[in-house]
Amino acid sequence: MAGRIPQSFINELLARVDIVDVIERRISLKKTGKNYSACCPFHNEKTPSFSVSPDKQFYYCFGCGVSGNALSFIMEYEGQEFVAAIEDLAQSMGMEIPRESFSGGNHHSNDNLYALMDKALLYYQDQLKNSKAAKEAIQYLKNRGLSGEIAKTYGIGYAPEGWQNLSEIKTESKSHQQDLVDTGMMIKNDKGHTYDRFRDRIMFPIRNRRGQTIGFGGRIIDQGEPKYLNSPETKLFHKGQELYGLYEMRKQLRNIDHILIVEGYMDVVALAQFGIFNATATLGTATSSEHLQTLFRICSKVVFCFDGDKAGRAAALRALQNALPLMKDAREIRMMFLPDGEDPDTMVRKIGAEEFNQQVDSSITLFDFLIQHLTSQVDMTTFEGPARLVHIAKPFTEAIKDSILKTRFDQKLASLAGLSEKQYSQATQYSQSQKKQEITTDLTKEFGSPEQEVKPIKIQGKAPFRRAISLLLQNPDSLPAAKLDWINQLDEPGAMIFSKLVVLVNKNEAVTTGMLIENWRGEPEEKHLKALALADLIISKEQIPAELADILNRLEKELIIDEWDRLIAKSKSQPLSPEEKNSLKSLQKEMLLRG
Ligand code: GTP
Ligand code: MN
Repeated sequence: MAGRIPQSFINELLARVDIVDVIERRISLKKTGKNYSACCPFHNEKTPSFSVSPDKQFYYCFGCGVSGNALSFIMEYEGQEFVAAIEDLAQSMGMEIPRESFSGGNHHSNDNLYALMDKALLYYQDQLKNSKAAKEAIQYLKNRGLSGEIAKTYGIGYAPEGWQNLSEIKTESKSHQQDLVDTGMMIKNDKGHTYDRFRDRIMFPIRNRRGQTIGFGGRIIDQGEPKYLNSPETKLFHKGQELYGLYEMRKQLRNIDHILIVEGYMDVVALAQFGIFNATATLGTATSSEHLQTLFRICSKVVFCFDGDKAGRAAALRALQNALPLMKDAREIRMMFLPDGEDPDTMVRKIGAEEFNQQVDSSITLFDFLIQHLTSQVDMTTFEGPARLVHIAKPFTEAIKDSILKTRFDQKLASLAGLSEKQYSQATQYSQSQKKQEITTDLTKEFGSPEQEVKPIKIQGKAPFRRAISLLLQNPDSLPAAKLDWINQLDEPGAMIFSKLVVLVNKNEAVTTGMLIENWRGEPEEKHLKALALADLIISKEQIPAELADILNRLEKELIIDEWDRLIAKSKSQPLSPEEKNSLKSLQKEMLLRG
């Protein structure tokens, strides 16, 4: 599927999707008049200033100024790349993306690798269902309380015994054997022999946000070492970014209030068995900032689920350090500690979904946990204790980027240390001149709320093309049928844009504001077009075609007069050619016609 996505396809896609559907699948919208509104998902607010226009297929936030079409929303909201967002949209519409082939050059795509992983997934699923050898695997899953339905939801399969099973599954790729090694599904030994990585294991597919299988976790049946075998890092699979169960969660749940982070595959699946679909697991690694960023794009509340033992507390501290720089306004992180020896899987079986959820609700917040941790590290009854507290808190204080949280945390530390705010800030300023202890990278930059981009404007009089663009952009149906090719000859700002708009409107069946603007994505004009798309037109919808026709008439007339003037001026210094004489005549006629 290598190649560029044709702009015509993007236009068609945007003409077909409904931005209200797209956004409503992600945040809840309320109908207000002919538009829809919500609290802006891109900045923190209490009263809704985010507005979605089904007419224009365009959204705009009066608070922070973000705006865009359905594609922009997916990109912004889910942090997706342009192409991924298109793929997402196209998939939801059941449309296949055509690709323009590259002229020459060797374009590397991972399509054959994805296709292979897909085949492997189907193979393992089929083996679980149909092979005799899977009996034990099925019994094991049943013993652990899993239904066939949940196994299907999570795509669980079975890798049978044998060293060359995957060589047999057929793909269209010419480099099948190499693909198997590149995806980590087969291992190449020193002698150059390749063999299946996963043998006689229960297979958990790891899927990316688009639902493509990018890796597997394979659990041994019952006892044995290693308990889990995971896909290695490959071109498709990056453990520091991916979260197990996230794709399935989003497929199952329309509204995600909070997300649970657990440790294991079985925890995710067992919770799902109890109807708790909002759990996800990191893949044998600590929860990274990247993981958290991904989750915060989906919802603002994340609950870590840790074992109650020492390892669990240590994991909690690591998570805390990664999380602190990301904390701000609406975001909430909580820490849930299970009793020693339990994991979410065993816990939910023991107490059921309702009580499990209650424990989630009553879990400790990130900052309360931090304060609890810090005060437990020093003896607060001694003279030195409180002073030491400020000292050991330093790496954490420095990791907090949000100024409100930072101030509040400083206040808390000052009061615990028995210092006035002034004394506290003097004390910490002194130690700040010492070498900074860096515990995390600053990711807040990437996170900042979307920049102020456009503000609705009012356009009147003057700048005829600005007005014309605004009218046409907001009401593509209002384009007069008259020939407009003369616009290209105009040397006014906006003439080029207007003439491209005319072409787009004439070429496409269905046209919306959001779709038109898409054709300038990343161009300097994009910003202006967004503003013009939002400009208050002042007049009513019915008056628009007439005004647009009027402006165009006026412009054409100006063009005619200019041209006539030019020819007259020329005729005074030199004789005109027969063509020029002809055109002078027809210009004269046009002028008479228009009065
Ligand atoms: P069950 O014992 O089946 O309940 O497993 P679990 O899902 O509860 O996993 P556990 O808590 O034992 O481990 C958490 C996660 O760490 C697993 O889901 C794996 O991703 C990873 N893990 C566990 N054991 C191994 C292992 O032996 N090797 C590797 N590479 N990863 C492991
Ligand atoms: Mn377990």
